[in-house]
Amino acid sequence: MSLFDPSLLAAAEAAIAQRIAEAGGLDDLRAIEDEVNGRESVFLATRAEIGMLDKDLRPQVGRAVNDALRRLDDLLSQRRDELASPGEEQGLSAERMDLGELMAVSRRGHLHLVTQAQMELEDVFLGMGFSVAEGPEVETDWYNFEALNMPPDHPARGMFDTFYLQTPQPGTLMLRTHTSPVQVRLMESERPPISAVMPGVVHRRDTADARHTPTFHQIEGLLVDRGVTFGDLAGTIEAFTSAYFGPSARSRLRPSYFPFTEPSAEFEITCTICAGAGCRTCSGTGWIELGGCGLVDPAVFDAVGIDPEEWTGFAFGFGIDRCAQMRHSIADMRALMENDLRFLEQF
Ligand code: DAH
Repeated sequence: MSLFDPSLLAAAEAAIAQRIAEAGGLDDLRAIEDEVNGRESVFLATRAEIGMLDKDLRPQVGRAVNDALRRLDDLLSQRRDELASPGEEQGLSAERMDLGELMAVSRRGHLHLVTQAQMELEDVFLGMGFSVAEGPEVETDWYNFEALNMPPDHPARGMFDTFYLQTPQPGTLMLRTHTSPVQVRLMESERPPISAVMPGVVHRRDTADARHTPTFHQIEGLLVDRGVTFGDLAGTIEAFTSAYFGPSARSRLRPSYFPFTEPSAEFEITCTICAGAGCRTCSGTGWIELGGCGLVDPAVFDAVGIDPEEWTGFAFGFGIDRCAQMRHSIADMRALMENDLRFLEQF
């Protein structure tokens, strides 16, 4: 019968390796080292008994003991280094990033629904021959009101509850209340014929509800040429409606008033939330107002130095957020502003 049991040696080595890994200080390591090399050591006891083993077993056991001692010695000095420079070790482990975990939780982002809607609307109008232009979000009184046929104290200014900037001359700079000022900028800088759409963010001091948010987006349209008629405008609106909302979407124009167009109309589409039956979102009417339109008022042409005897034009402006809301049947528009990812990631 052999005195040597290799599994005992292996178990002893594993137990000591475990204690080395868990050692909290250099003192612990020293104690373990003494044990490995001390009088009680299983390894040294085994080595001492080699002479009593079968001759052909001796080299094997000798090697096993030596290998185990060498491995433990390596572990001891490794752990000693770790304990000697705790700052570095902790720093590294604090910085360690588990990429597997990261991959599991991160999802690919995408453009906000309103941005997607803006890009799709631009595409529709680009396809109809319009170009795309942009203007500033902070405007002067001239562009936001006066050049659009709303001189100071004009009652139509009341249609736009305005956020003014605090400047040395109060009331001169504001967050634009609509994208119509970009029309003026375009007509000042370009000679007709002009055909462009102008998307962008606008602000009004309105209380948010299912159809309104104080910050929203509009897309303005302007076409200036010779002999432009209301029929051209109506046809353009009709073509846009079916291109963006699909062939079954219905739209209508209703007489309205805007200071910068004459005649003016309101542009509505059937409410997609209730399919025209009437609901809370459309206040029971079955129709949702998208925006306004009309033929460019001669006073606006005068303001920008375009001869109204020679040139005619149509203009329109409507809500991009409202378009996204109707296209995706979103009952409450405030959801577009709240940035709840559970809502946004559906689109
Ligand atoms: N700017 C108007 C608004 O925000 C919408 C509008 C109406 C734009 C008629 C136009 C237009 O270009 O011709 O309420």
